[in-house]
Amino acid sequence: MRMREVFELKDKDVMGRIGRLKTAHGVIETPAILPVVRPGADASRLRKFGAQIIITNAYLIYRSPELRNQARDLGVHRLLGWDGALMTDSGSYQLYEYRAIEVENSEIVRFQQEIGSDIGVPLDIPSSIYISHSRARAELDRTLNRLREARELIDDERDGMILAGTIQGSIYPDLREYAAREASRIGFDLYPIGGVVPLMEQYRYGDLVRVILHSKINLEPSAPIHLFGAGHPMVFALAVALGCDLFDSAAYALYASDGRYLSPSGTYFIEKMEYLPCSCPVCSERSPEDLRSDKDLLADHNLYTSFEEIRRIKEAIREKRLWELVQMRVRSHPSLLEGLKSAVSFADLIERFDPISKTSFFYSGPESSRRPEVIRYSNRLDRFELGGTVLITTERVLKQLNIEHDHLFLLKPPFGPYPVELSETYPVGPSEIPKTPDHEAMVVAGSNVRRLIELNPDVRFIIACEQEWKGYIGDIEKGQVEVVWV
Ligand code: GUN
Ligand code: ZN
Repeated sequence: MRMREVFELKDKDVMGRIGRLKTAHGVIETPAILPVVRPGADASRLRKFGAQIIITNAYLIYRSPELRNQARDLGVHRLLGWDGALMTDSGSYQLYEYRAIEVENSEIVRFQQEIGSDIGVPLDIPSSIYISHSRARAELDRTLNRLREARELIDDERDGMILAGTIQGSIYPDLREYAAREASRIGFDLYPIGGVVPLMEQYRYGDLVRVILHSKINLEPSAPIHLFGAGHPMVFALAVALGCDLFDSAAYALYASDGRYLSPSGTYFIEKMEYLPCSCPVCSERSPEDLRSDKDLLADHNLYTSFEEIRRIKEAIREKRLWELVQMRVRSHPSLLEGLKSAVSFADLIERFDPISKTSFFYSGPESSRRPEVIRYSNRLDRFELGGTVLITTERVLKQLNIEHDHLFLLKPPFGPYPVELSETYPVGPSEIPKTPDHEAMVVAGSNVRRLIELNPDVRFIIACEQEWKGYIGDIEKGQVEVVWV
């Protein structure tokens, strides 16, 4: 466990946060995108998009004797024409693509430090998503040995380089948890989650979410997390909501070379477009035809829209509306929706991170019924001290009937019964729900009615509500419970 304060949290929502990461070339605000810059290219043009930090591949520099010497002489910042923060990757990705590379872990780690990288990465092994558990475990053990070896070589403070400890483990939850526990034990100031590019390429977002969360479970909550290879703006909101802080993106260029026009709500093919649904400096002055004939323009648009999405996410975190943004974004693709479904099965974990009080709760689809606030409310139903007769009713029925009671609970999906005294309190009070709640909200509300009754076996309950509730609490009448259908 390391005690240096390189990462400071400014604000948070769900498991996402706005943070400040201190590097030797300045403080960067997260969530942040690191555009991938090829060795030899000029990075200075990336400023105009709002980039504060970039990433390049130290192995590709190392492999070319000319670039290697230049980088050693000038430093990697001058080599790329960039005076801001800069991360280098180690060649692990080449290892994944071509299964072999010609450099040792210790050599490439030292090289990153020599050329003045602000964040360096050991030569982790990105395991395939198709290998057996035992093989993934063996590769993970090699990765962990390399992390240990790198840790012995680099002292972040002395060497001016943050060393990152990448989490591998293929798609196996226990291996991801083990990797995170061991990497934390070795101690890093930044933890990338690796080996996930194939999951994203294949739209396996349910698996991606599980990989992220099983890694997060055993990492220090306050440590910054990099999601390796995530460059499509439509996944940023979900990934940030699960606690990812940094994204490296080659996607803006790769997609552009393939004629793909990115947007936070999905991908368009520039070949087929007649209109440009974006107001970035590229799109506001050009036609689809211009972008078809100039792939650099298309790449620029892809970057503008990616940075815009990051700003939108930050504002959502400030306003405590990130969950709602995620619900909108996952509608871009059914596989992303699957990702959110997989995330809500970790509701208890997310609940532990989510700040307690916000100003609003907008019900924006069935997943709202599994929001941390709703889970937390259900978990706290045992906190009410009740006696005598409890009336559970809806606001509308309350105005029509006059029933004697000692405690008054109002019914509001998805929370279910809440004491009238909490009407002004977050989350129940300021929650905005549609007049006709959906099935999921009614199910959760109904189950909370049952729970409240079970928790108070000596209390008499009178439930007075509309027929719509019959499908959810129709069978509840017995002994201590009387029901009045209105
Ligand atoms: N780039 C994309 N995926 C990975 C990964 O798993 N490890 C490293 N070091 N770089 C990557
Ligand atoms: Zn645009």
